[in-house]
Amino acid sequence: MKTRITEMFGIEHPIIQGGMHYVGLAELAAAVSNAGGLGIITGLTQRTPENLAKEIARCKTMTDKPFGVNLTFLPSVTPPDYPGFVQAIIDGGVKVVETAGNNPQKYLPALKEAGIKVIHKCTAVRHALKAQSIGCDAVSVDGFECGGHPGEDDIPNFILLPRAADELTIPFVSSGGMADGRSLVAALAMGAEGMNMGTRFIATQEAPVHENVKQAIVDASELDTRLVMRPLRNTERVLTNPAVERLLEKEKELGANIKFEDIAEEVAGVYPKIMQEGTMDVGAWSCGMVAGLIHDVPTVQELMDRIMSEADGLIKQRLAGLC
Ligand SMILES: Cc1cc2nc3c(=O)[nH]c(=O)nc-3n(C[C@H](O)[C@H](O)[C@H](O)COP(=O)(O)O)c2cc1C
Repeated sequence: MKTRITEMFGIEHPIIQGGMHYVGLAELAAAVSNAGGLGIITGLTQRTPENLAKEIARCKTMTDKPFGVNLTFLPSVTPPDYPGFVQAIIDGGVKVVETAGNNPQKYLPALKEAGIKVIHKCTAVRHALKAQSIGCDAVSVDGFECGGHPGEDDIPNFILLPRAADELTIPFVSSGGMADGRSLVAALAMGAEGMNMGTRFIATQEAPVHENVKQAIVDASELDTRLVMRPLRNTERVLTNPAVERLLEKEKELGANIKFEDIAEEVAGVYPKIMQEGTMDVGAWSCGMVAGLIHDVPTVQELMDRIMSEADGLIKQRLAGLC
């Protein structure tokens, strides 16, 4: 399948693995790239530019295909060393960066000068247009269904994607709720030129996370996610568990007076414990509604092959047969 996204990133299939904190390590990025998609290392999980440089080098020992690095710009009292991360990406010879969380404008000149393509992930058409206007090469349009941070507009992909198609001239991929060949074909029909998946890639053999995380996704239905931190305007879609329900109770009790400190126990620093140690109830972790469509833990290669052959069959047989 050839789209503006496969051409831009030099990949075989129009499928991207979105950056994921404590999941997007070299093992997963390399597996996705080796299977013909675009794997992405999550920059901030590496904590320092030196560690990121090592992770990029490690990924290069596992794949000779293109892969990217995610740079998430978070609201933070002591911001990470973003210029250092950008330099590590440039020095590492990485050719694609996925930005998210905030406007990446400040770092675009350095990235562009190094010949790096930038795909900005955003949850609103107005943000996608801004990304286009500042020179991003592509956008990842993240609908309300998505795992992680869906923004505050709550527009699902059935509306968001055609709206993006109507407004944008740069290519975009659909993100949020994508799991299989049906997702890909639907996304293409709505004007996207590929898809980005998060949650689906966690439930794969190569995802370097504890088995409990994969099992939790397989066990979950589409009814099992919750939106937390909405009162802080930092909404995150997570899988429910006792810590999440406790957090939601606090939100209800404290209302508009809630502060980050009130819920720090449930959200701060919990990722290593969940992703690496498998202590699932320790806090809130991002997960998409798409969990309801995930019933197995295949290898990345099996997953990608299945998606592409399902998409091929849908387009050539089911859809063509309708006309
Ligand atoms: C566990 C987890 C961690 C994530 N961490 C990040 C992150 O650090 N930066 C980022 O830009 N997106 C992050 N995301 C969002 C994904 O890159 C992707 O946009 C999202 O998962 C798409 O929705 P889906 O889960 O329905 O496929 C995360 C998602 C999950 C499930």
